[in-house]
Amino acid sequence: MINDRSEKLFQRAIKVIPGGVNSPVRFFRPYPFFVSSGLGSKIVTADHQTYLDYCMGYGSLIFGHAYLPILESVKTQLDNGTLFCIPSEKEIYLAELLTKIIPCAERVRLVNTGAEATMTAIRLSRAFTRRKKILKFKGGYHGAYDYVLVKAGSGAATIPSSDGSLQEISEETLLVEYNDFGDLERIIKKESENISCLIMEPVLANYGLLLPEKNYLTEIRKITKKYGILLIFDEVITGFRLAVGGCSEFFGITPDIATFSKSFGNGFPIAAICGKKEIMDQLSPSGNVYQASTYAGNPVSVTAAITTVESLLKNKNKIYPTIARLCDTLVMGIKDGVKEFAEHYTINSIGSLFQIFFTADAVSTPLDILKCDTKMFENLFWDLLKKNIFIPPSMYETCFISYSHSDEDIEKTIECYSDSLNKYTK
Ligand SMILES: Cc1ncc(COP(=O)(O)O)c(C=O)c1O
Repeated sequence: MINDRSEKLFQRAIKVIPGGVNSPVRFFRPYPFFVSSGLGSKIVTADHQTYLDYCMGYGSLIFGHAYLPILESVKTQLDNGTLFCIPSEKEIYLAELLTKIIPCAERVRLVNTGAEATMTAIRLSRAFTRRKKILKFKGGYHGAYDYVLVKAGSGAATIPSSDGSLQEISEETLLVEYNDFGDLERIIKKESENISCLIMEPVLANYGLLLPEKNYLTEIRKITKKYGILLIFDEVITGFRLAVGGCSEFFGITPDIATFSKSFGNGFPIAAICGKKEIMDQLSPSGNVYQASTYAGNPVSVTAAITTVESLLKNKNKIYPTIARLCDTLVMGIKDGVKEFAEHYTINSIGSLFQIFFTADAVSTPLDILKCDTKMFENLFWDLLKKNIFIPPSMYETCFISYSHSDEDIEKTIECYSDSLNKYTK
């Protein structure tokens, strides 16, 4: 690997940017490579190395890098202005589009980031139920702010909490084990009068990749309804990725509120809170739940989202089966190619998402993940990088396949994974 320029850039970066990166998941030891461009399934580094990308902006780039139809529509918008902070027709069009696709979306508010979306969803729930506490899953990640940064996943997976967070706020957050309905039922029965909402990633994709067990989501929908607890599906990763209608469509379960970002804008900063009208109409100026943002609904991101969603809708019968087939081929290919070592690893996958874990057992809860061999994962990460394949550097993240990945990309990836894993047998 040639990383001379990346090393120099990192030395420059740490003098002006804390830790040299603008988000902690981007850092890995001794220093991350720096990127200069991306096209389709590949990225090019500052040292002119080309990597096959399975990070894909942590799941944002469902169409891959620099997808032409989105670039073209955005370029047209750039000529017509980038920010007005005055309502525009495109915002209505995008919201109308979402009300047709997302089952719970009677009203839509656009924001810029996933954290803003989930923060607003929680505030709406507190106002609607007049209850203070929230329920979240251990290992679930919903953004980097106080009341969800408690036993969170993603980059926060290895830290119990954040310095500077207020303990009196995190005390209002009750924690449950994913895929353990008994745990959820026990807490709800004890605290139901205080719990405003359950916020969850229906497929937990920020603590490795954990899939909901059979009937789990159905039971969750039933119990939250019974106790008047609002169910928030945080679909920042799964929205527009598992299906156009996200997990609601994929699993056939409708939450009270759903939040979207990432694949919604294929790399442009945009997010949405969608929900039933009686909940959403509490938002200012129609109600008293305050939420505001200068860049919300900016025409550039809105244009990118319209083109993304329209392209997904138009080609959904081709796109979703294709990316799921590529993912299945990849997972089956690795399993076929790595027989001797088979009892030492397991792969979880759904749609276009996959992750490998170094353990002999099935992985369905965060507790299972804690038993996995992180050193082996690190070895694999470096082995793959040497073979020009980039996966997120942490076992607590998920790998993503985009519509721009080709059969050849997948073949190459199977060979590289198999080669590395078979080496560990010796
Ligand atoms: C499920 C989920 N929710 C919320 C967020 C926060 O989104 P953002 O980083 O855009 O604030 C993330 C980010 O990775 C996420 O994966």
